[in-house]
Amino acid sequence: MENPFVYGKVVRGKYFADREAEIAELRNDIASSQNVIVFSPRRYGKTSLILEVLDRVKAEGLLTCYIDLFKVTSQETFIAAYAREVARLQGGRIQTMLKKIRDLLPRLVPKVVMKGEKVDLEVEFEFDPRADKGPLFDDLFEAVATMSLQTGKKAVVVFDEFQEITGWDVKGQIERQMRTHFQMHESVSYIFMGSKRHLMQELFRNKNRPFYRFGKHFPLGKIPKDEFAEFIQRHFEETGYQTDLDAIREILHVADDHPYYTQLLCHILWDRKRQEKVIAKEDIYLAVQEVFMREAHAFHDIWDMLPLKSRQLLVALAKEDSPQVRPFSSGFLQKHNLGSASSVQRAITRLLEEEVLEKTNGGYQFTDVFFKRWLRQM
Ligand SMILES: Nc1ncnc2c1ncn2[C@@H]1O[C@H](COP(=O)(O)OP(=O)(O)OP(=O)(O)O)[C@@H](O)[C@H]1O
Ligand SMILES: [Mg+2]
Repeated sequence: MENPFVYGKVVRGKYFADREAEIAELRNDIASSQNVIVFSPRRYGKTSLILEVLDRVKAEGLLTCYIDLFKVTSQETFIAAYAREVARLQGGRIQTMLKKIRDLLPRLVPKVVMKGEKVDLEVEFEFDPRADKGPLFDDLFEAVATMSLQTGKKAVVVFDEFQEITGWDVKGQIERQMRTHFQMHESVSYIFMGSKRHLMQELFRNKNRPFYRFGKHFPLGKIPKDEFAEFIQRHFEETGYQTDLDAIREILHVADDHPYYTQLLCHILWDRKRQEKVIAKEDIYLAVQEVFMREAHAFHDIWDMLPLKSRQLLVALAKEDSPQVRPFSSGFLQKHNLGSASSVQRAITRLLEEEVLEKTNGGYQFTDVFFKRWLRQM
């Protein structure tokens, strides 16, 4: 029997829990061609949520595009990724599809390739990398709106991990072109998603950036406790496991309701208890140790990248473990031997940029509960 708790990849269908309120809100936004900026810390479920939303609106006949900027590293790969989505949108027989693509993207030469052993046709694009890309971007950024007009269907275009654009579009050239086109599109909803809060804020809240005030801000929170508990209980029970609400509440408590960690803990528990098929509160602590083992490499990577002062500060904050702690107070600085308040300020700025900490009303909090626990064990 397959483990019903999925982690580390997009969750779909029955493996996807709740989010009904968020789905309804995003569907409304898309229906009214509202632009939306969705952000949350890593692994809260942005991609899973938006793909679920796209599935549903596609079933209602809308045109949907999803472009993941995580793997995009240059203007060229961006053009290729965007154009591939436009091609996919065309669907239909290959000949008709190619003709339509030529009309929409006259400056790109489509090339049909076969992927893998299966007859899986995909369209790739060729262009002269030295050519002036201005006109090419005009075609590209108009393509979805044109299709929307031609078909009379509303459209939605999602850019996942949008903050990555700042890495290669250094002068903001693409950003400006996108805005110029997108703002005219009345039947298209553009959705920008990202997990680096400070970069997303820079892109959408800074007056000097092209996308300033371009859409509605949609911070994605965790999954509500009750709904998540119901989902967990159902999956354990449907696979023949006995459990009780107490144990499930403890799992959620230990994982701090974090969607990824909650699923990871449940996954481990399900695996460990294949024989007995009973989940008790005591089992959870062993599962937590296994989470540390599995995540250790990721924690080491974060640790590695941080300068000494940030490390010292993090260990101090993890040990204090209170949202009320005032990291600039002389008491805290002296107790943990942290030097001057200004050096701690610099360290905090860095940790906020790296999304290791987040600012909450007045205090600072770890974005990753397990990283905090890992530090406390040091
Ligand atoms: N609605 C949900 N129901 C159940 N599990 C979920 C849900 N959303 C997220 N998860 C859990 O969190 C994990 C990460 O989800 P997803 O990749 O969608 O998040 P993300 O915010 O896009 O992450 P990243 O920051 O890495 O891009 C999933 O593998 C799953 O374990
Ligand atoms: Mg994602």
